[in-house]
Amino acid sequence: MSRRTLVYEATGPTPIGVRETLCTLGNGYFATRGAPPEARADGVHYPGTYVAGCYDRLASLVEGHRVENEDLVNVPDWTPLTFRHEDGHWFEAPAPDPPERVELDMGDGVLTRTFHVVDEGRRTRVTQRRLVSMDDPHLAVLETALTPENWSGTVIVRSALDGGVANAGVPRYRDLNGRHLRPAGVGADTSGVAWLRSRTLTSGVEIVLASRTRIASGPGPSSVRSPMREDHVATDLTLELGRGERSVVEKTVALYTSRDRAIGDALGAARDALDACGGLDELLSRHTRAWHRLWDACAVRVAVEEEQRLLDLCLFHLLQTLSPHTADLDVGVPARGLHGEAYRGHVFWDELFVLPFLDARLPEVSRGLLRYRWRRLPRARSAARTAGLRGALFPWQSASDGREESQSTHLNPRSGEWLPDHSHLQRHVGLAIAHNVWRHYRTTRDLAFLCDFGAELLLEIARAFSDMAVHDRASDRYGIHGVMGPDEYHDAYPGEDSPGLDDNAYTNVMTAWVLARALDVLRALPGPRRRGLQEAIGLGSDEIERFETVSRKLRVPFHEGVISQFAGYERLAELDWETRRGARRLDRILQAEGDSVNRYKAAKQADVLMLFFLLSPEEVADVLRRLGLTVDPDLVPRTVEYYPARTAHGSTLSAVVHARVLARIDRKASWEFFREALKADAEDVQGGTTAEGIHLGAMAGSLDLLTRCYGGLSTYDDVLSLDPVLPEEQSAFSYDLRLPGHWKVCVEVTHDHVRVTLPHAEGAALRARIQGSEIEVPPGSSRTLPLRDPPSSRS
Ligand code: BGC
Repeated sequence: MSRRTLVYEATGPTPIGVRETLCTLGNGYFATRGAPPEARADGVHYPGTYVAGCYDRLASLVEGHRVENEDLVNVPDWTPLTFRHEDGHWFEAPAPDPPERVELDMGDGVLTRTFHVVDEGRRTRVTQRRLVSMDDPHLAVLETALTPENWSGTVIVRSALDGGVANAGVPRYRDLNGRHLRPAGVGADTSGVAWLRSRTLTSGVEIVLASRTRIASGPGPSSVRSPMREDHVATDLTLELGRGERSVVEKTVALYTSRDRAIGDALGAARDALDACGGLDELLSRHTRAWHRLWDACAVRVAVEEEQRLLDLCLFHLLQTLSPHTADLDVGVPARGLHGEAYRGHVFWDELFVLPFLDARLPEVSRGLLRYRWRRLPRARSAARTAGLRGALFPWQSASDGREESQSTHLNPRSGEWLPDHSHLQRHVGLAIAHNVWRHYRTTRDLAFLCDFGAELLLEIARAFSDMAVHDRASDRYGIHGVMGPDEYHDAYPGEDSPGLDDNAYTNVMTAWVLARALDVLRALPGPRRRGLQEAIGLGSDEIERFETVSRKLRVPFHEGVISQFAGYERLAELDWETRRGARRLDRILQAEGDSVNRYKAAKQADVLMLFFLLSPEEVADVLRRLGLTVDPDLVPRTVEYYPARTAHGSTLSAVVHARVLARIDRKASWEFFREALKADAEDVQGGTTAEGIHLGAMAGSLDLLTRCYGGLSTYDDVLSLDPVLPEEQSAFSYDLRLPGHWKVCVEVTHDHVRVTLPHAEGAALRARIQGSEIEVPPGSSRTLPLRDPPSSRS
């Protein structure tokens, strides 16, 4: 089996929905779930195709209340293909018997499916290959080879485009309106070309599919018909098949929308694209070349095969969601990829876990994702104004235009009740964006990025958080009130009617950090640009002084010698974890029991520990000292020890954070968390969520853990700094980076040495710092340095 292959044989343990998510093919512009082409949405299979950034807003009535939801639209299905004998029924899912074999070749981005259809004793072997082009983001191909094994005769092959689809992939949303498409015309010609136009109901995006279905090998069709109705068009080819002879039907599809650039109209663009494109062989070779380039730029190699396969799976799906094609699309990071409908394709803070990996490999993609935020500054400014703040307040959930998309009520499937949802109080999303801006700048040292829009984004966020801080005369401290931290279990004090908590430590410490970075940004900008920007956004010296003051006086709560998650946390009850072992959604369980998780010291996911995920222990200590607090040397270990025992890991992000935070404290526990993050989707560890989409943060976070955390990689200070802490379970790993001035840098880490290679002979030498010792790597050469303190000897 090739290293980059995922194979499903027979009726393995993986549920169909999970397979279909993991067999999704995409290219950063659109993605299609791996449902069989003959399947409809039937509660088992769920075909779905999603175009990055194509949203539509609909109203629904929930328990008598009108609610609005903006969904990433399930666009018309390009995949349908089936066949029948002249005298038989159309072949349709469920999967045939004997069972099929599905093979996802991640290296080449090709999904192959092999199975037999037996109809009244007539046995036909079917092999299908599918790709969604990484070369031309508008093209996809489905090839179907039919071989009659014990018969010959006539079959009719039906290749269709189906606009009669809806958003129905998440059972919890079944009470919400998911019919986003209105038919806008179908057509066909006699050469096997068909097209279908649809329009989203409220956003008015035109979506066009055009298909060309032809016989690539074997006798041509004796007839071509095109049955159509307003939301469905098919190409029916009548074929004479000979016993043992293989006939190959090739369906090539072009997908365009009215959001696309460099087109006249979407239908014309789709038809032109089909006219211009070659057959599968040509498309395949361009597609695989594009994939090979991406693997070459981003690959992470480890010694253990199982982990290698999982890492490849993570990288494959990351690149299918966010590829170089994404950079120019004006889209954010959809938390669940383009792989399903959970969270309606919305953009949360998960880019915090995704951008670090991209910053040092595909920086133009990171920049595009940050620009998505910048373009939505007007909305964020108006949200800030409504809240009585200057600057910009970004929404917890964002989609097309950057307004707050968090729902006001959500369904607890355990109790069947609709409950108020206060998650929009997670103001910390803005801090994540600011952190991403700073890290991108420090990694790429791209001053133009800072001048063009990075500085504006960070400064506007800083202003809102600075204004959010309220001064308390008695203590001469500033507090931030009425917010939620990353731990979504706590949205209010026990028994209180009004939602929100005070002085969430993560929010306050990161606010102090962001305010300090805002001052750094002002120093980094060239004078004229700084003055121009300050003038444009009205940032005066009084406000800058306030940044300085607030960043030194925010309150950080403590109890029992550890940083408290929020003020008053110490008064909460301890949960009996023994009786709740393995329960990830304690919020739902306790609510269904008539209790509330707000009463307990129980977190859904890392909250205080996020500080040590984003910042080094020294940086946290620096911020705390800046806040005038005494930092005793045991504060960090005590805090890091306190919270894991009180965390349910109800989000896959939690494992990523814990793996990193524990890496230099408890290597064994860290590795277990790493493995959990890595397997999050391959094994559907949250129990039933992968069928609704991948967990992109956990996937990208796992890749990042290996390089930045275990590899001890930092690209901040004009030098490549490495201080590895290799897990015992891995004898070596290696990865490649793109750094300022260096198109490719290869890093290899073992238990006793680090090797840095500049494979290209041109360019400047690279400065690297390995465990504090500086070396210079000339272009076209390698330097190996023994590790002074081999990580395996550390605890
Ligand atoms: C987590 C959030 C995350 C969201 C989307 C939630 O379950 O609690 O932190 O942003 O999923 O991935």
